[in-house]
Amino acid sequence: MAKRLFTALLAAMPWMVEAQTTKAVYAHFIVGIVENYTVDDWKADITQAQAIGIDGFALNCAPPRIDSYTPKQLANAYQAAQALNFKMFISFDFAYWSTGDTPEITSIVGNYSSHPAQAHGGAIVSTFVGDNMDWNAVKKALPNQKITALPNIQDPNYLASAQTGLDGAFSWYAWPTDGGNSIIPGPMTTIWDNRFISNLAGRPYMAPVSPWFFTHFNTKNWVFICENQPTLRWEQMLQLKPSLVEIVTWNDFGESHYISGSQPHHSDDGSSAWATGYPHDGFRTLWAPYIAAYKSGAAKPTVKSDQLVYWYRTTPKNTVCTGDTLGVPNGVQLLADVVFVATMLTSPAQLTVTSGGNAPVTVTVPAGIQTTNFTMGVGNQSFSVSRNGQKILGGTSAKAIANSCVKYNYNPYVGVLP
Ligand SMILES: *[C@@H]1O[C@H](CO)[C@@H](O)[C@H](O)[C@H]1NC(C)=O
Ligand SMILES: *[C@@H]1O[C@H](CO)[C@@H](O)[C@H](O)[C@H]1NC(C)=O
Ligand SMILES: *[C@@H]1O[C@H](CO)[C@@H](O)[C@H](O)[C@H]1NC(C)=O
Ligand SMILES: *[C@@H]1O[C@H](CO)[C@@H](O)[C@H](O)[C@H]1NC(C)=O
Repeated sequence: MAKRLFTALLAAMPWMVEAQTTKAVYAHFIVGIVENYTVDDWKADITQAQAIGIDGFALNCAPPRIDSYTPKQLANAYQAAQALNFKMFISFDFAYWSTGDTPEITSIVGNYSSHPAQAHGGAIVSTFVGDNMDWNAVKKALPNQKITALPNIQDPNYLASAQTGLDGAFSWYAWPTDGGNSIIPGPMTTIWDNRFISNLAGRPYMAPVSPWFFTHFNTKNWVFICENQPTLRWEQMLQLKPSLVEIVTWNDFGESHYISGSQPHHSDDGSSAWATGYPHDGFRTLWAPYIAAYKSGAAKPTVKSDQLVYWYRTTPKNTVCTGDTLGVPNGVQLLADVVFVATMLTSPAQLTVTSGGNAPVTVTVPAGIQTTNFTMGVGNQSFSVSRNGQKILGGTSAKAIANSCVKYNYNPYVGVLP
């Protein structure tokens, strides 16, 4: 009912669409794994994203010479978005594009900049790396369009003097790092965000929010130390109040930071080895109140019903896998062998966690969202919440923690109760 009213208001007052871009949440969508997506497949993802308040997708794509289906899938994405009043913008992946592609980039930006589903505030365009891309050239070639370039920039100091026509910036430092892919101890901080904000001097900053990072390809094999980040990072956003947020990511299964459902029609780059059977849907449940709080400017999320979300790795860090030719991912020794529980409560209660063979541990948890961790034990993982001596919710996770493995997998298993 309320949602219908809001949609009707949007239609009646187009200025609200512009206002929305001052505090919007987008999610990074890897087009490279949806070669055969139909418009209906796009609609299924959009519906899931809209259910937690995500406003649009940043469409990460490679040039047609790499992925011949890029134009077709951009068209499908915008068509599905238009039908559902969702937004899209293009995020050119400069692992594949180069500044020599400026005419083709201009033609794609120009093709969608006045599309009804284009994310606005000036038609947004973004990137992965591509720091040197000259957006002035794109703008000059599209004199009748207002383009807002929010590229990913690797060195925030560059922003103070950049002459490339950028209007703001997006950071890819979504995990604890000294820059690049260096692995440092957690927890996540806002050190990089603050560097971006100060160098942008009032121009819009699109901040990255990511739940996790584990990848296990022969070209990249590491974890970032970001285990309490699914809630900590949003708490940072509620304090920092950046202009825009981009969730990293919607569907990058390869780096284990997806929050989408399992997407039955995506193609498999080998990441099914660690992503299949490791749902992250619970992160969407957990993030909906944070997204609402971020958009309203609230300092704390509002919880409407009692729930809990748990996440954990399914092997302790010293477990040696017997059939893995790639070896132990870098950074693993910095991980903690704990199980995380984020309680989402309307009033205080008692949380009891029984992790494997460990004795049950009971703690008092406050109203709102609170994250508590518990020493990991091998075996089943059980959770229960009581209030005034009455059990209000509980259950045992479908996935146990094991002290044996064939291949390394540090992707978390995420569950929701009830
Ligand atoms: C331009 O957009 C239309 C859909 O509106 C699409 O069919 C076409 O492939 C696009 N062309 C380019 C170059 O992206
Ligand atoms: C997409 O469909 C084409 C044609 O049926 C097929 O050749 C290709 O393997 C499919 N791609 C993926 C990633 O499933
Ligand atoms: C677990 O909780 C304790 C107590 O709040 C905290 O000091 C510690 O950093 C947490 N561990 C992780 C890995 O987040
Ligand atoms: C874990 O729970 C399942 C059912 O929920 C049960 O069949 C199994 O025996 C339990 N495992 C252990 C080690 O307790």
